[in-house]
Amino acid sequence: MTGDTLNPTVCAQPQSLLLFDDAETTARRAAIDELHARTAIYTTSPVVDDLLKRLGWPDADSRLVDPSCGDGMFLARALDTLLAARPAGFDPRGQIEGWEIHPAACVDARSRIAAILASHGWSPARAATLANGMVHNRDFLTEGPTTPQWDIVAGNPPYLRAANVPDLLRNEYRRHVPDCARGDMLHSFLERCSRTVRPAGRIGLVTADRWLVNEGASRLREQLGRRLSLAHVERLSVETTFYRPKNRRAGSPPRVHPVSVVLVSDAGAEQNLTGQPIHPGVDESRYEGMRLLGDFAEVRIAPWLGTEGIFVVDAATARGLPPEYLVPAVDTDDIRNGKLGTPTRWAIRTHPGEEPCPEIMTHLASRMHLMAKRGRRGKQWMPPESFHGLDLSRESLIVPRIAKTPRAVRVPPGVLPINHNLSIVAGGAATLDQVEEALASPIAAEWARDYARRLENSYLSLTTTLLKRMPMANVPA
Ligand SMILES: C[S@@+](CC[C@H](N)C(=O)[O-])C[C@H]1O[C@@H](n2cnc3c(N)ncnc32)[C@H](O)[C@@H]1O
Repeated sequence: MTGDTLNPTVCAQPQSLLLFDDAETTARRAAIDELHARTAIYTTSPVVDDLLKRLGWPDADSRLVDPSCGDGMFLARALDTLLAARPAGFDPRGQIEGWEIHPAACVDARSRIAAILASHGWSPARAATLANGMVHNRDFLTEGPTTPQWDIVAGNPPYLRAANVPDLLRNEYRRHVPDCARGDMLHSFLERCSRTVRPAGRIGLVTADRWLVNEGASRLREQLGRRLSLAHVERLSVETTFYRPKNRRAGSPPRVHPVSVVLVSDAGAEQNLTGQPIHPGVDESRYEGMRLLGDFAEVRIAPWLGTEGIFVVDAATARGLPPEYLVPAVDTDDIRNGKLGTPTRWAIRTHPGEEPCPEIMTHLASRMHLMAKRGRRGKQWMPPESFHGLDLSRESLIVPRIAKTPRAVRVPPGVLPINHNLSIVAGGAATLDQVEEALASPIAAEWARDYARRLENSYLSLTTTLLKRMPMANVPA
């Protein structure tokens, strides 16, 4: 489907035309500008070249598309290798095309392609005409094809959570994108690409890694699995994978963890994707047969008691309150050099069925206006997440939920970890010593790097579900 109706000479509108735009055109232009500003992160040529090679490009008379081509790096590299492999004067039309929603990016892509054509001997005028015809200034999600057209889809589709897509466009996409692919622009593009690739075709993309792992994308993976199997996945370095459009300041690298993936269509149902998460580069057999932390210990999430100063108080406030209501509380800032310092905060313990004494009620009433909105709920003497039922009689471990490697610190009996850190109480056969040792082991660090969600600056997000599945190398199976 290359039938493009655009006027090849009109890419960026002259300012005078803006005066005559109707409101809808102006709103659309603003929405597209905003979408482009939020999604334009371009791919560097070595990453593009590597992916094209993996896709077996150029290959006979295969047809290739970049559905969101930005300033045309994928198209230009694909064109250059195609022309180099063909006799002089070879006409590449019909074999390579790009789609791009943003007019100025389209201009950039066309001039990049025209320059490649010119370097292979085409006259500048002819090169410009050909380049205009190869790059369509259109919206791939609303105007793109929905049936198999291309042998190769290559590119770096936009990533943007649906909530951040300008309303005007998001409302349109709802009519064109199935429910399982609406959560993120990347999901919408993956789903659409899966429908437009021909039998035995290949899709090679640079993407953010979350669609491979997130529970919320399992229905998307299942949907893609109707046709696609995974032929290759590899993590890329965020520093060397991207560059910014030339009109934008360089700034810090984007906050994504990029991967390069190759998906193959109709390779055989038994290899197809399923709803199961895919962990790039992980050798799952390394952890086979090991006992899991959750088999021995109770892993729980430490309660959040709301804005400090209300249910969590400092020493000065605590001195004015009845001690029988107070429990020493600890957070990660109480950890110094791997050890827990003396607690500097106290949590007020109340029970739902029993109104506390007047001093506590007066204290809470005088501070409750400071409580964050999400912390206001239920009975006024109960914190947002209650802990009155927690057994604090045993020594436990506190594990910071954001860390570079899992590490545990001892918490004495009677002390309450707070603020959504992870708290471990040893249960069955293993002792707290063994759990602590297992958490500090190299295999735990590797396992966390393999499976935990990656945050910025090499930090990982540790969750209770994850920790329960952590292998215990030091406990015999
Ligand atoms: C992440 S950039 C990648 C560009 C190029 N493929 C590359 O790798 O260098 C994504 C591009 O998709 C474009 N885009 C966003 N939504 C689009 C849509 N619905 N249809 C076509 N292009 C779109 C953006 O304007 C942006 O230039």
